[in-house]
Amino acid sequence: MERAFWQDIADKILRKERAVAARNAGRIPYTAESGAFDDMAEKNICWWTNGFYAGLLWQLYGWSEEKIFRAAAEKIEEKLDRNLLSAQGMDHDSGFKWLLTSVASYRLTGSEESKNRALLAANDLAGRFNLAGGFIRAWNDGGDGKTAGWAIIDCMMNLPLLYWASGELHDPRFAHIARRHAETARKAFVREDGSVCHIVVFEPQTGERLYSLGGQGYGHGSSWTRGQAWALYGFALSYLHTKEQSFLVTAEKVARYFLAQIPENSLIPADFCQPPEPAREDSSAAAIAACGLIELWNATGSEAYLNGAERLLRALAEKRCCLSPERDELLENGTVAYHDAGYHIPLIYGDYFFTEAVLKLIGKQTFLW
Ligand code: GLY
Repeated sequence: MERAFWQDIADKILRKERAVAARNAGRIPYTAESGAFDDMAEKNICWWTNGFYAGLLWQLYGWSEEKIFRAAAEKIEEKLDRNLLSAQGMDHDSGFKWLLTSVASYRLTGSEESKNRALLAANDLAGRFNLAGGFIRAWNDGGDGKTAGWAIIDCMMNLPLLYWASGELHDPRFAHIARRHAETARKAFVREDGSVCHIVVFEPQTGERLYSLGGQGYGHGSSWTRGQAWALYGFALSYLHTKEQSFLVTAEKVARYFLAQIPENSLIPADFCQPPEPAREDSSAAAIAACGLIELWNATGSEAYLNGAERLLRALAEKRCCLSPERDELLENGTVAYHDAGYHIPLIYGDYFFTEAVLKLIGKQTFLW
């Protein structure tokens, strides 16, 4: 591993993020325009990405213990209480939101208030479990039940909130639900070649698997890269929490598929099945996959995973990374969805996972999942 290279990148991230936090204390960014973060506290306090900037701040606090990072993260966590009190604003993304805010705060500061918030979020997440189908329902709808049977691969990343709650409460119910969802996802989402679909629709009364949808990818049957990355990292995390071999086997199967698709320039497209034009790149998929690959390297000792992660991260560091303290965003060229107008833009979750991955490489990450 090129330790000195990654130490230098980590030092530059720390220097940059000090300046970014000083400019943005309490802001909840989703993207940046002309180098300046937006603020979801005003636009949509229930948005699924609202925990990522706090997660980045906690990662830097865990490493540096600089108060500026902690103070900004705590402000964000408090603001998310409006979401916690909104039944319609609570969905399967509670892991993304409260693992990276409240669980992070509890782990690093011991705050009982934070623990309480995270347990409330875990209870809500557990309540979304469909007993007939063995899956956690994804999004809400207007109350007409149209999406009652929808599950999405992204949810694999929310399961650690349930594993955490079981550990805290010495009550296996939460982990039972997480494990059942992961087992269902393994059977219903993962294809023979190791690729995964984004959305699976179940019949919500019987639990029967009906069909899959292309979701944020290029189309039906395609291979949305962020979804592949959620699966890779998500199954690896379920393995770390349960030690269930089938989750490790699945994570490795998805990882082999992902590694085999990496293009020559090492920059990840938005969909591995997308046509040459319009070409879309998603830096966030690369950063998420790199985190999962590093965990697989830790779990198996296979250097192929570390090499793959470093290849992805080096391409980002050299071609897509803005280390200037003058601009708020860290990664460029994130893409919301293949057909979305939001393409080749900064996305806060790209910044989070890139930072997490770099800190993993220098042995300074705080494990938040
Ligand atoms: N649906 C969450 C994502 O865009 O990855």
